[in-house]
Amino acid sequence: MLFNISNKTIEQSAQTVKFVFVSIADYTNTTIEHKETLEANNFKALVDETLFLIESNILYVGIDNASYDNIRSSSAVAVRAINTKLYTNITIDMNENLNDIQIQSMCEGLILGNYQFLRYKSEPNISKIKSINIYTNKKINEIITKAKIVSDATNFTRDIINTPPDDCYPDTLVQIAQDLAANSTLECNVLDERKLEEQKMYALLAVARASRHKPSVIHLSHKPKNPKCVVTLVGKGLTYDSGGLSLKPATSMVSMKADKSGASAVMGIMKAASELNLPIEIHGFIGAVENMIGGDAYKPDDVLVAKNGKTIEVKNTDAEGRLVLADVLGYAQQEIKSDYIYDFATLTGACVVALGAYTIGIMGYSDKNKELLKVAAKDSGELVTELHFNRHLKKLLKSEIADLSNISSSSYGGAITAGLFLSEFINEENKEKWTHLDIAGPAFVDHIWGENPYGASGAGVRMMISLLTNLYQQESN
Ligand code: BES
Ligand code: ZN
Ligand code: ZN
Repeated sequence: MLFNISNKTIEQSAQTVKFVFVSIADYTNTTIEHKETLEANNFKALVDETLFLIESNILYVGIDNASYDNIRSSSAVAVRAINTKLYTNITIDMNENLNDIQIQSMCEGLILGNYQFLRYKSEPNISKIKSINIYTNKKINEIITKAKIVSDATNFTRDIINTPPDDCYPDTLVQIAQDLAANSTLECNVLDERKLEEQKMYALLAVARASRHKPSVIHLSHKPKNPKCVVTLVGKGLTYDSGGLSLKPATSMVSMKADKSGASAVMGIMKAASELNLPIEIHGFIGAVENMIGGDAYKPDDVLVAKNGKTIEVKNTDAEGRLVLADVLGYAQQEIKSDYIYDFATLTGACVVALGAYTIGIMGYSDKNKELLKVAAKDSGELVTELHFNRHLKKLLKSEIADLSNISSSSYGGAITAGLFLSEFINEENKEKWTHLDIAGPAFVDHIWGENPYGASGAGVRMMISLLTNLYQQESN
């Protein structure tokens, strides 16, 4: 999608549709064209509300109070409303009162809303939109570039997650990471099975054992000169989670191709960080594994030794993400001394039960770091809620025969006990630096919501880019 910015009046043509964004305040207080028609059609300028005047080639788009979220969501709804039609261009007379973040939100909404995953359609109904012409006197090139980088990275993440498990297995994630590095400033290092053994990542290896696809750990890095700080990102990359021998019921297994959402988000964030030239050193670690059944499968009752030497009694092979992350977190901390550590994982169904399908659960020991995430979520239009650790829940991870069990002895509070399990694999000196993000809800949703399509949303990407941007501004002060 091409953005043309101009301060000359844009010619209308039959292939061009004009988007007119209307807030409730504009609608009430100013004289807008077609007001009578809009009123006659009960148009209220609410968020996600559109009215198409086909004879004038105009789409009116409600944005309610013009908040960033409303603008982003309505822009996505608007582009979807016309991307099945024959228009090839969109024109927008940019309201000169919009601030930079409102403009960025609008462009993000347009790109995110135009996302389609059509690889498996024999007769794809491809969006015809080729260009967006914006009429304005402001200098907005930089804002548009930023919006494009962030949204394209989100769509890149969505594509990886949506790809079915037979076409996206651990080696595919490795290939994607290597291609990403080959086409950018990123570096990529891959640990194959032999190196994982050398590194004593036996918990990860146990999860991977029954699959015909060999596991890998991927390390992507972004190393600018004189970085302001160092950030580690860790992603759960279960290219399929059948549950293992503790097999998932048929309906719960559907959509488990999305268990690689954390890994996919890490790749999207690394891509955007490199394109934006962020002055922060960033390391992305991915545990790429498939959790399957078979004669060689790891079993409930097994005791595994994680990389940090702790022993884990397996009571449920479907609680595999935490086993993989235990080792990848251990490896990441061994390799890189960083100021901030974030892990992204579709870790628990319990998080979806607790928060609903749209919200990321954040957990950790540092209030300051959780606050940074809340601010970033608000700026970028993602939803986060904090889940608090407590010592009573921690006791539920006790095992009679090993250092800890891979599941809690209670069926309540599963998102937090999973977070507490991970905390056992964070070195003492890093406890305050680490935050866990359970993205099981928003990573993959089976309907359209706001700027997000059916399926993968790219949860975590936009929020993290906001956070990293805020971080270097904060570190510079
Ligand atoms: N990948 C799942 C979590 C999940 C569930 C993600 C639903 C997205 C939607 C994870 O590996 C898992 O199976 N967790 C179990 C843990 C349980 C065995 C303690 C769960 O949530 O049921
Ligand atoms: Zn599982
Ligand atoms: Zn899983």
